[in-house]
Amino acid sequence: MHKPAWHIPPHRNPQLNARGELNHLLSIDGLPREILTHILDTASSFLEVSDRDVKKVPLLRGKSVFNLFFENSTRTRTTFEIAAKRLSADVINLDVGRSSTAKGETLLDTIDNLVAMHADMFVVRHAASGAPYLIAEHLHRIGRSDVHVVNAGDGRHAHPTQGLLDTYTIRHYKKDLTNLTVAVVGDILHSRVARSDIHALTTLGTGEVRAVGPQTLLPVAVEKMGVRVFHDLSEGLRDCDVIIMLRLQNERMNGALLPSAREYFDCYGLTPKTLALAKADAIVMHPGPMNRGVEIDSEVADGSQAVILPQVTFGIAVRMAVMSILAGN
Ligand code: NCD
Repeated sequence: MHKPAWHIPPHRNPQLNARGELNHLLSIDGLPREILTHILDTASSFLEVSDRDVKKVPLLRGKSVFNLFFENSTRTRTTFEIAAKRLSADVINLDVGRSSTAKGETLLDTIDNLVAMHADMFVVRHAASGAPYLIAEHLHRIGRSDVHVVNAGDGRHAHPTQGLLDTYTIRHYKKDLTNLTVAVVGDILHSRVARSDIHALTTLGTGEVRAVGPQTLLPVAVEKMGVRVFHDLSEGLRDCDVIIMLRLQNERMNGALLPSAREYFDCYGLTPKTLALAKADAIVMHPGPMNRGVEIDSEVADGSQAVILPQVTFGIAVRMAVMSILAGN
């Protein structure tokens, strides 16, 4: 029987095509380990190419990548743009503040118009969790699953390329994940980065993943994500190989979940003293933007164990890998 265009089988993973290949990148959750490893390995090859001073590869030549950032961003938007340009794509940055969305056009009407302009890929950041899913399902319904969607951060839900670049960074410095202890510290409740990091790390078989933070900033039943929970920073950091600090997401807090930023720093801020509890060769990561003096002391952020800026550089290679795989290379 002919299925109506809107028919979506209930268990279809919206990120994968019928052959089980990546068609959109919406979330790390639900992706098999092989796909994650393939993205990380592909990113390595792009990093080698850029080390050899090859600035551009023609893998996305003739393709149009639309950056749709409905929320602020420095690193993510810029590195997606650089990545797309290094793949020789045409990049269009929609100025959302001046776009027709500001006049009341719906998200999907905007998408239809951009598809009519021959968009091949959308990189989407949106304050509403699920917005990139909505777009992917819409493209499926209108028979345009050849247009790809990359989630660049949706609400508190997911930030898959950040999860991938964070695991890439850990693999780069520590090689084998299976005997590592990784602490994710701070405002996990509001953090899409934390969720994507945890899914990526557990899927890739990391030895131990810890969620460290005050009760009010940890999601209910966070241990179901396969993490060990710590409310005490010193205990949570002890003997860690990797520390991922998270920004305190003030803009996502409704009501007071904390007494004050000062008290937060006193209890959960990463300082030279608390860092000393981790292994001597532990690396310190942060997705940015950092709140110096709130979740991390400047001495640590600028110290020899911090790999916060290399994370940004690796982000370009990882985003190149994601876009080239989606485009079928
Ligand atoms: C993060 C984000 O926007 O989710 N930043 C980023 O993408 N590098 C983290 C944050 O805003 O705290």
